[in-house]
Amino acid sequence: MARSENQTDNRSGDKSEAEDAAGKCPFSREAEEFDAFSDRYQSDPAEALRWSRDQKPVFFSPKLGYWVVSRYDDIKAVFRDNSIFSPRIALEKITPATPEAVEVLKTYGYAMNRTLVNEDEPAHMERRRVLMDHFFPENLEAKQEMVRRLTREKVDAFIDSGRVDLVEAMLYEVPLNVALHFLGVPEDDINVLRNFSVAHSVNTWGRPSDEKQLAVAHDVGQFWVYAGKIIERMKNEPEGTGWMHETIRKNAEMPDIVPDSYVHSMMMAIIVAAHETTSLASANMFKTLLSHRQAWEDICQDASLIPNAVEECLRYSGSIVAWRRQTTAKTRLGGVDLPEGAKLLIVQASGNQDERHFEDGDTFDIYRDNAVDHLTFGYGSHQCMGKNIGRMEMRVFLEEVSRRIPHLQLADQEFRYLPTTSFRGPDHVWVEWDPEKNPERQKPEIAGSEVHYPVGAPSRRDIARKVRVADVRWEAEGVLGLTLQDTRGRPLPDWSAGAHVELCVADYERKYSLCSRPGAEGYDLAILRDDGGRGGSKHIHETVRKGMEVKLRGPSNLFRLDETANSYLLIAGGIGITPIIAMADRLKALGKDYTIHYCGRSRGSMAHLVRLEQDHAGRLTVHAADENRRADLAGLVSALKQQGQIYVCGPERMISALEDLTVDLPEGILHFEHFSARDTGLDPEKEAGFDVELQDSGLSIKVAAYETLLDALHAKGIDVASDCREGLCGSCEVMVLEGDIDHRDKVMTRSERAGNRRMIACCSRSRNGGRIKLA
Ligand code: HEM
Ligand code: FES
Repeated sequence: MARSENQTDNRSGDKSEAEDAAGKCPFSREAEEFDAFSDRYQSDPAEALRWSRDQKPVFFSPKLGYWVVSRYDDIKAVFRDNSIFSPRIALEKITPATPEAVEVLKTYGYAMNRTLVNEDEPAHMERRRVLMDHFFPENLEAKQEMVRRLTREKVDAFIDSGRVDLVEAMLYEVPLNVALHFLGVPEDDINVLRNFSVAHSVNTWGRPSDEKQLAVAHDVGQFWVYAGKIIERMKNEPEGTGWMHETIRKNAEMPDIVPDSYVHSMMMAIIVAAHETTSLASANMFKTLLSHRQAWEDICQDASLIPNAVEECLRYSGSIVAWRRQTTAKTRLGGVDLPEGAKLLIVQASGNQDERHFEDGDTFDIYRDNAVDHLTFGYGSHQCMGKNIGRMEMRVFLEEVSRRIPHLQLADQEFRYLPTTSFRGPDHVWVEWDPEKNPERQKPEIAGSEVHYPVGAPSRRDIARKVRVADVRWEAEGVLGLTLQDTRGRPLPDWSAGAHVELCVADYERKYSLCSRPGAEGYDLAILRDDGGRGGSKHIHETVRKGMEVKLRGPSNLFRLDETANSYLLIAGGIGITPIIAMADRLKALGKDYTIHYCGRSRGSMAHLVRLEQDHAGRLTVHAADENRRADLAGLVSALKQQGQIYVCGPERMISALEDLTVDLPEGILHFEHFSARDTGLDPEKEAGFDVELQDSGLSIKVAAYETLLDALHAKGIDVASDCREGLCGSCEVMVLEGDIDHRDKVMTRSERAGNRRMIACCSRSRNGGRIKLA
């Protein structure tokens, strides 16, 4: 059967699903034509799905027989809920085996079974828990030296050559040896394993021709037999170290949790999980960095940038671009009804560039402070157990090569990729350099020096870009205006209306909305001096001068404008005008219907008035208290047009009033951002400690009166994203299953609080110290 006939096979197999889908949502041409094996998807999966992120974030692909999910939040929601979205198809062959290939596999006794990645609960978590120890950061720390040694041996071997294929010379073999070492598997026959790994990837995620299917089936069958032999050998070494030895011991101790079928299947799957993923990610990393020369030069000059550069490479060009789940019941995702049994291709590469989560998401930016939010390692209870090993290897590769060969260049070449739906990385990365210019020829000590990075995700606190204060001015009474530009004259990242940055001056880190005029060079901020606050704005007013260098994080956008509405009511209180003016600029550019209501003490204290009057004349109403012109919020809300939306930024009382006034309107009409957070400090005299049960990991933890839930989770090594730690950004949200929550955040709406399904871990607590249960 030829390749095109394979596609026909798939289509007919899922016909009823396709017809169902066609009945519910009209197929767009793009959905019908979507082909995960097309050159378009293979060469850039995120770009190939841009239309989907913008118009149809969940769609049925008749060619693939899968529902494709392309937006960040939807992908995360799928990863988060593994009871509705079962991982059971994660390792299923995406191209069904031909009967001949099935026969070949049988001759090898091939019986691939559930491992971890495709196991449902509760079996998965029981197993994951008993096999987790080797992956704890404190146990991985000791592996760094081995990774460094293996890497150096390779670099030493090619450093004087001037031209090399990095994949062949280092990136293939070192991750394989690291994986074998971690697993405790003998390092023999690397070349045999290479063929086997490729066969496993093609078999599971590729679209082999019929002829190829037979060859692949033989390789996979041999891989299976080989894995079985290794297990038998390892069983004779009861004192052996390494994760597979541990797995074999657990199999003997608790065969109901770690059964025989699991051990054999895992032996085969883990080699690919640990090796291919890291090799391909590292190849992508060098290709990406060497083709973004400024970023490469920056890390050569400052190796502390490496951990975040690795995360940005994993985000921008990860090695796992899509993963799979299947619905266990009818459900709704991204506004689309999914039937029970629907197969989902969740495209992390697309989510990783979704501008709804990553500002200017399709730009590569090693200073991006939320790069670590990427989904390349998955998310939730199945999240990659080996993520910190992969990270460690990538950092060491980059640190060694950028220190010893900073003049490295990508050679002219055409990059080739093995066509699969899920694994992505070039077969070769040819690089060139002049060995005469190797810095260690002048300074031999360079070869042996190193920068050590602690195991684990980089801290957001260590990431910032340097900017210069290009202009300082008075915007209004007590409001300082700043224009910031990159210190090296590079353009700063694009941003969208509602975005903010975090300005770092001395020990103060404060968030301010961006309010530059469209097309202006640099970032404009307007900073109100708040003498009653925590001192940040006062310090900025008193010390920041033109020409100074300061640090900046972001931009990020937590107050995003939904551009699909018909009309907009924009309301600003005082300095809350900063995101609102950016929204007004955007709506004007889009030709939308909008009005701005700007409330303040007096015109003299209201920033940006002149600009608003110039740019938004006819749309603007100023409510200055000293002119007795207070805004009639009730009247404004009742005059809201059909399908209109309200965006408000201002003091708490203004937002509460609008929440009261819109309580009977449908969800999603009122959008707000507070410009200050109060009452987040904890007073142990007044707080109570509480117990938390974590369903997924089965752990029980105690949150003391003096600490936050977020701190207690981090102390137990549980990855929960966080940013502001003040209840403002929503990034530390966790799922609540039981318990009465005292919500103290500024992000959730009243109805979300009443629903009691989620809580913000950095500030909210159990009410009255009662026990709570989280997912
Ligand atoms: C699971 C990616 C390196 C071991 C996964 C998953 C992804 C992934 C996408 C599925 C997550 C989910 O379903 O939510 C990667 C990438 C790597 C990498 C991109 C390198 C850059 C490693 C390494 C090891 C490893 C080095 C082991 C030494 C595992 C295991 C699971 C897994 C055991 C199954 C976890 C579970 O289902 O509970 N990985 N991986 N991975 N990975 Fe990795
Ligand atoms: Fe921002 Fe918790 S970290 S809301």
